[in-house]
Amino acid sequence: MAFWNRRRSIDVLTAPREGPALKKTLGWPHLIALGVGAIVGTGILTLIGEGAGLAGPGVMVSFALAGLVCACAALAYAELSTMMPAAGSAYTYSYAVLGEALAWIVGWSLILEYSLVVSAVAVGWSGYAVGFLEGLGLQLPAALAAGPQLDFSQGFVAALQGWNPAAGLVNLAAVFIIVVVTGLLLLGTRESATLNAVLVVVKILALVLFVVLALPAFNLQNFVPFLPEGFGAPTFPFQEQLTGRPPMETGVMAAAAIIFFAFYGFDAISTAAEETKNPSRDLAIGIVGSMVACTALYLIVAAAAIGASPPATFAESGEPLAFILRQLNQPVAAQILGAAAVIALPTVILAFLFGQTRIFLSMGRDGLLPRGLAKVSERGVPVAVTIFTAIVVSILAGVMTLGDLASLANAGTLAAFFAVGLSLIVLRLRDPNRPRVFRAPLFWLVGIITMVGCVIFFFSLRTSTQVAFVIWNVIGLAIYLAWSARNSRLAKGEETAA
Ligand code: ALA
Repeated sequence: MAFWNRRRSIDVLTAPREGPALKKTLGWPHLIALGVGAIVGTGILTLIGEGAGLAGPGVMVSFALAGLVCACAALAYAELSTMMPAAGSAYTYSYAVLGEALAWIVGWSLILEYSLVVSAVAVGWSGYAVGFLEGLGLQLPAALAAGPQLDFSQGFVAALQGWNPAAGLVNLAAVFIIVVVTGLLLLGTRESATLNAVLVVVKILALVLFVVLALPAFNLQNFVPFLPEGFGAPTFPFQEQLTGRPPMETGVMAAAAIIFFAFYGFDAISTAAEETKNPSRDLAIGIVGSMVACTALYLIVAAAAIGASPPATFAESGEPLAFILRQLNQPVAAQILGAAAVIALPTVILAFLFGQTRIFLSMGRDGLLPRGLAKVSERGVPVAVTIFTAIVVSILAGVMTLGDLASLANAGTLAAFFAVGLSLIVLRLRDPNRPRVFRAPLFWLVGIITMVGCVIFFFSLRTSTQVAFVIWNVIGLAIYLAWSARNSRLAKGEETAA
C-alpha cells in the first residue's frame, strides 16, 4: 500500500501490547491536575505582557478567541483520545484516520511543540526566578540571566553585529530548571503526578492573590482606546514583495496567535492515556474540565492586570504580574507571586517533557523513528529518550528568547490541532457506528472552528516563525521519505493496516 494512505487500524492500536507496558496508575483527579498543571504557566504569567504589547487592551479579545479555538480542539481531543487511548496523542489519531504521511507531519510538529514549550516555560521561569532573587537583594550577572538578545528584523548578520554578550549570553536559570525537572521525571510518573497536584494549588492561589490585590486599583480608562493596533490581518513570508502590502505583526490576531500558548497543555493529558486507570471516563473529565477552568481564570487575570496598569507599562517585563504588584506598592505580594511561579511553573515543564518522551516512544514503537527510542525501564520510564530530550531543550532554553520559542511552539501545536479537528470529522463520516465513549457536540462546527482557527492563527504568527516551521517540516519530510516510510511497522508488514 502506498505510504500516503497507509493507516493504522484502530482495533489494532487499542489492543493490548506485548513487551514492557507503561503502568496504569492515574485517575481523573491526577489528569485534571496534570491538565491544569500543563496549561497554567508562562502564557498567563509572562506572555500576557507580550500579548498586551501587540494588541493593547484588545488582548482580552485575543484571550477569548484563543480560548474558543482551544475549547473546540479540546472537545475533538476528548472524543479521539477516549476512542484511542494511546500514548501518541494527535500523532496516533492522525495515523489511524489520516494516514502515515500526515501522521508523520503531525508527530514531527508535536516534537516542535512539546520540546519548545519546555524551553519557553523554562525561560519564563527564569524571568520570575531572577526577579525573585533581585527582591532578596541577589543580582545574577545579566550575561547569565538571559540568552543572546538578537534582533533578526534587520537580517542575520546585523543581528550578530548588534549583539552585546554582556547583556545576554546564556540563560543559566532556564537550563538549571530543566535539569531539575528531568530528575523528577526519571523518578517515575506516579511520584511526579502527585507532587504536581500540590504545586497546581500553589499556582492557582498565586493568581487569585494577584486578582484580589489588582482589582481594587481597577481603572476603566486603561481600556481606552480598546484596539490601539486594530484587529490585524493574516501575514505570510515575502508578502511585501508579492502584494506590496507590508506584513502586519501587531493587533488582536497577532496577540491571539501568541496568547494561544497560554491555553494548550490539555493535550498533554491525552499522552497519559495509556497510564490512565479508566480512560473512557477520566480522559473526558480531565480534558474538558481543565480547559473550562483555565479559560475563566485567564479572562479574570487579564482584566485585572489591564485594569490595574496600562498595557504598555508591563508589556516588556520578564515577570509582568509581579511587576504590576510592585507598581501597586505590594512588594511582599510580588515576592510571594514570584515564589509561587518559581515553585509551580516546573509543573508545566514536567507535563510537556513527559508528553515529549511519549511522542518519541510512540513514533519509535511504530518504527517511524529508531526503535531504541521505545525502550522503557523496569519502572516504566523511557530513560534514554528523556535524557536526550532534556539536553536538546536545555540548549534551546539557554540561547533563544521567550517570544521566538513560544511562537514556534505554537506553530507546531496549531498543525497538530488542525489534524485533530480534521480527524474528528473524517472519522465521524467514515466510521459513524464505532462506539464513542465521549461524543463531541456539533462535530461539524467543532471540527471546522478548530481547523479554520488554526489556519488563521498560523498566518497571524510572525513570518520568521512561519519560515522556521516550514524548514522544520521540510527536514522532517526528507527523513520520512529517506528512512521512516520504509522502516515503519506497517511498511514492513509487522502490523496489519486498516
Ligand atoms: N499553556 C502553557 C503555558 O502557558 C504552555 O505555560
